[in-house]
Amino acid sequence: MSQPQPVSSANKPRHVAIIMDGNGRWAQHQSLPRSAGHRAGVKAARQIVEACGRREIEVLTLFAFSSENWNRPKKEVGLLMRLFVEALQREVDTLNKNNVRLEFIGDRQSLSSALQKQIIQAEQTTRSNTGLHLIIAVAYGGEWDIVEASRRLASRAVAGELDINDIDKSLFRQELSLSGVPDPDLFIRTGGERRISNFLLWNLAYTELYFTDHLWPDFGVEALDEALDHFATRQRRFGQVPGVKPC
Ligand code: FPP
Repeated sequence: MSQPQPVSSANKPRHVAIIMDGNGRWAQHQSLPRSAGHRAGVKAARQIVEACGRREIEVLTLFAFSSENWNRPKKEVGLLMRLFVEALQREVDTLNKNNVRLEFIGDRQSLSSALQKQIIQAEQTTRSNTGLHLIIAVAYGGEWDIVEASRRLASRAVAGELDINDIDKSLFRQELSLSGVPDPDLFIRTGGERRISNFLLWNLAYTELYFTDHLWPDFGVEALDEALDHFATRQRRFGQVPGVKPC
């Protein structure tokens, strides 16, 4: 097993967000059904969660199922939902023992009641943990997130609890799914595509984007370390001029 790289804490991302793409192609390359690719994807996710915990990353957000993934063939959607239920049943105790705090973001109402129940249970079991904060995005879309936030602010304004002139970036951000955590510092997408695909649209505004051709089931600890090394070389300016104080 490869050892954690000496990434200094100054250059270490606090929050890593990942689009785990390429399960289907991985399976196809090995003449296996897509389901085998998703199963291998779950194993890869497990490894990356462990590695992020060991590297003392504070927050890891994984895009497990997008709002658009509902449009996949019914059989594949059913399999993915079963995999999520199985993975939760199998992993929650271990995650809890390892001090991982689990949280889910996305449109929960669209999930089966069995999965919703497991999600609530997993969140309650791990809620006081202080190690890695693992956020799983299921039935999530960045557009959905922004619309939901707008709807909540609008209903508070209509109820007279909020002056429209008080709506600003910081108030808006508080209504988004990731309100309680810092924005991702590093975004990783596996599988060769170079796009954000309706992931955390607001929260990726200043995130370093890293794209790799590795298919998700092949994205191991070494590949994660390459991404972290790449991040460590980046100079983040947040729209400012380095070394010059803002007026
Ligand atoms: C992308 O592969 C992956 C998904 C649609 C989501 C499923 C992710 C997993 C099963 C990983 C495990 C996650 C957790 C948190 C348990 P794809 O089907 O889009 O691949 P393709 O682009 O090669 O077809």
